[in-house]
This record gives sequence, C-alpha cells and structure tokens, in this order.
Amino acid sequence: MAADACFTARPSDIVVATLPKSGTTWIKSLLFATVHRREHPADATDHPFNSFGPHECIKFLEYQVYTGKKILPDDVDDELPDPRLFAMHVPWVALPGAVVASGCKIVYMCRDPKDTMVSLWHFANKLRVNEGLEPLSVEVAAELFCDGLSAFGPYWDHVLGYWRAHLAHPERVLFFRYEEVWKDPPAHVRRLAAFVGLPFDVDEENGVVDAIVKLCSFEHMGGLEVTKSGKTEFVVGAVENSSFFRRGGVGDWANYLSPESARRIDAITKTKFKGTGLNF
Ligand code: PPS
Repeated sequence: MAADACFTARPSDIVVATLPKSGTTWIKSLLFATVHRREHPADATDHPFNSFGPHECIKFLEYQVYTGKKILPDDVDDELPDPRLFAMHVPWVALPGAVVASGCKIVYMCRDPKDTMVSLWHFANKLRVNEGLEPLSVEVAAELFCDGLSAFGPYWDHVLGYWRAHLAHPERVLFFRYEEVWKDPPAHVRRLAAFVGLPFDVDEENGVVDAIVKLCSFEHMGGLEVTKSGKTEFVVGAVENSSFFRRGGVGDWANYLSPESARRIDAITKTKFKGTGLNF
C-alpha cells in the first residue's frame, strides 16, 4: 500500500517478481550481473557480490524500501541510476499502480510447487526457531500451502497472474521457470539480456555469459564470505545471507514430502493449470 501510494516508477525500471523460494536470489544475481556487466565484469575480483548479497544489490520494495520505518521514494529516485532494479513478491493484481502504468519491465521466476513449498518450509522453520516457536511439520506446512495460506497468496494464483500477463505482454513480462534455468543457464542469461535491451554482442558472447553464470551459480554465491557471515536488513530484522542458500537444484521435495501430500499438490496444480499452457 505504501509503494502504491508513494512509488514513482520509471519506464526504464526493471522489477523482479517471484514467490518466496522460487529462485529470487538467483534471478536477482543474474539480472544485476547482466545489467552491470560493463562497469562490474563478472570475473572482476572486486565485483559487488563479494561485498553485498543479492538482496542488497536489488532491494524488495515491500521488505526494504517501503517498510513503514522509512519511506524513501526520493532517495530511491536520486540514488539509483537507470535502469533501476527492484524486486517484489506481491501477486500481479497487487502490484503498485505505478509499476503497471509505467510500462516498466518485469522479470518473473517460478519454481515447481513442491520444491517451492519444501524450500519455504525449511526457511520458515529457521525463522520460527529463531523466534522461539516450535517448527512446523512438513505435513502441516503442505496443508497450509494447499489451502492457499501462504504469504503473498496461493502459489497457483501467483504463477497464473504473471503467466497471463506474460502471454498478454511478452515484451513487458519475461517468464522463467527455475528448472529450465537450472538445465541451461547460459541460454536463459541470453534471454534475460535481450529482454532488458542489453543483448550480448559477438565479442562478449560466450566468455561473458559463462562468467555471469559462474558468478551467480549456487556453488560460487553460496561459498562467498558475505554469504557465509553476512546479514541483510529487512523489515522483519536482519536475516543471515546463508539462509537464502540451502541446497539448490530440482526435486529435493521427494526427500521430505509424503506421497499423499505430493499427490495433493500435483492434483491442485493439474486442475488450476489446466488449459493455461503451464504445467509442472
Ligand atoms: S527468497 O527468500 O524469496 O529470496 O528465496 P529464493 O531465493 O526465492 O529461494 C531460495 C531457494 O533458491 C535456492 N538458490 C539458488 N538456486 C540456484 N542457484 C542459485 N544461485 C541460488 N541461490 C539460492 C536456495 O538454495 C533455495 O532453494 P532450496 O531448495 O531451499 O535449496
């Protein structure tokens, strides 16, 4: 609501939109490294990622900019050069009006619902334990997820909102699936660069694309000192950067979810995505 009232979007802004645990940290890294590759070459020893986590390089409007503690629209305007990069978890229907009206570009990433749910369960339990609360069982977490009781609304509505926006406005909304990026990161870095209007030229093609992929890889980012010992300030408090890097990859849900829970999530996915061209 604060962003809706105060945020002045520019057509040149680029907004990362995701549900939590869909690959936000990764797509933020890929976008920042791609957009800033000229002033910060991906293989430079002083790349900003050595000092700042991806969530400091691209801030969430709802967790870090319009936090209710300090409203910084002027600072935001003054401080960041074009293209400004932001992130949001809100569903398409709840985007600040200025973001929609400005015509700025939106980069969406989604992930298999079962992997998203299991990743969220691990993360939420970490926060719960830190706050002295009992951890939730995976079965209870799966029930909440299936009932749509998730931050930023039901998984399926979130994904479909951006999917439909992508189909209607492919030049404005780019749609990624975590699993596809995992399979072939260079292909998707090229898609990303072309979408934001900064395609790779022949001189930089393979070397630069590969350097960006390597810089942003789970192994590299997870091993950085700023990840291992750094924290990022959010409206909820300081969160350890390491908590955004757990295991990475595809299919870890099978190690945690019961067959019944997996079947329930699959059945909802099949029903909700029927006829949309989306599947998992
Ligand atoms: S958040 O809180 O919304 O920002 O979390 P998010 O980044 O969306 O999700 C965290 C999961 O993404 C994995 N991760 C990565 N995967 C591939 N490459 C890179 N660079 C990367 N960085 C983070 C992270 O490990 C979480 O997934 P799980 O399955 O829990 O390991």
